[in-house]
Amino acid sequence: MDYLEIIGQQKLSGVIKISGAKNAALPLLASTILSANTINISNIPNVADIKTLLKLLGMLGATYKHDDTNITINTKTLNQTKATYEIVKTMRASILVLGPLLARFGHCEVSLPGGCAIGQRPVDLHLKALEQMGAKIEIKAGYIQATVDGALKGATIVFDKVTVTGTENILMAAALANGKTTIINAAKEPEVVQLCEVLKDAGVQIDGIGTNTITIEGSNKELLNFKPFSIIPDRIEAGTYLCAGAIANSTVRVQNVEPNHLDSVIAKFEEMGFVLSVDETSITIHPAHEIKPVNITTTEYPGFPTDMQAQFMAVATMANGVSIIDEKLFENRFMHVSELIRLGADITLNGTVATIKGTPNSLIGTDVMATDLRASSALVLAGLVANGVTKVHRIYHLDRGYDRLEEKLKNIDAQIKREQE
Ligand code: UD1
Repeated sequence: MDYLEIIGQQKLSGVIKISGAKNAALPLLASTILSANTINISNIPNVADIKTLLKLLGMLGATYKHDDTNITINTKTLNQTKATYEIVKTMRASILVLGPLLARFGHCEVSLPGGCAIGQRPVDLHLKALEQMGAKIEIKAGYIQATVDGALKGATIVFDKVTVTGTENILMAAALANGKTTIINAAKEPEVVQLCEVLKDAGVQIDGIGTNTITIEGSNKELLNFKPFSIIPDRIEAGTYLCAGAIANSTVRVQNVEPNHLDSVIAKFEEMGFVLSVDETSITIHPAHEIKPVNITTTEYPGFPTDMQAQFMAVATMANGVSIIDEKLFENRFMHVSELIRLGADITLNGTVATIKGTPNSLIGTDVMATDLRASSALVLAGLVANGVTKVHRIYHLDRGYDRLEEKLKNIDAQIKREQE
């Protein structure tokens, strides 16, 4: 198993090129199940989750060529409809094949994702919506078994909670359904928007893109003709490297980004006293005179993203004063807290609220354990400012979603290396 070794308290400086968004690439790759033609996709991030989904698509019968950041994929050859436990247990987002497989073949089996480190994460809303579209769903021996006679039927779906992959699953199912589907209380994340735009370019009539009410006119099982497309920049990766600049109180620029996807994140950096300069495709964070504490509540886009919560908590340990972080989306997304405490942070937890008593230069390097994707990056950030050596173990979590993290951090003068246990 690999771990990262970081020598902390180095000044950082430089530019980081941001990769394509994992959370956009995953639903878009799943959507290729709906395609009649071979598709070229560019700006694919080099992360483990993408390889996992490609493996699943390969098991279903797709053929593809994966060359660094480009993928050419053909799903005409699909001849299996089962997403096995072995795949789904390594990546919950495998649930994204449920909607498109059912819409295309009228039946499929997808292993039911279990709980995960950050909470229960049920998929009941995905299943209920598909049932409203005429699917019969049974849970048997740990598998979701879904069938429908003929095509799925357009329906009005009201999501009780805003769900990102739930919205994406129903968008893909609706694209091949018979009639019009309206999704009320839809997710508005940029990754959902890109999926809508790609489906629209492939011939599906979609209205309300980027709003919380989306309507989709289905093709009645006629497969779509996709155009080539490029994955949008990863706003969470960009936010994480801006946090590296923030925690080290250094000047760091992220480029190849879509700055307006990071509005809520930029606003929180500014509240903490950092100065940011933004142009069309890059954001630069400059040191703060004094890092101020901050209050954050995670919500759906365009609010502050839960996927940036752990990284901001790491930055808050360096502030002058008490920060409050309220995690509203996932009930257990605080696994990084005990590890940050091991590094010397003063954090108390009360339900969904973390109180962080920040003190500049208070962390001391030690061994810590990554527990989930974003928690891992928070530990790396803390390692950048801890006194001495920090070793972050179990970084397979990190590799799921960060493209060449240590290489990118070395480019901005961090002292970080990958070692084997
Ligand atoms: C996606 C992102 C993840 C991000 C999260 C919230 C991907 C691959 N993953 O996850 O990085 O942290 O959005 O922005 O895009 N819920 C239910 N029932 C359901 C579905 C969701 O109760 O059927 C709840 C969840 O437990 C959670 C909330 O709804 O409390 C939002 O979850 P959701 O938006 O579905 O998260 P994911 O799509 O799994």
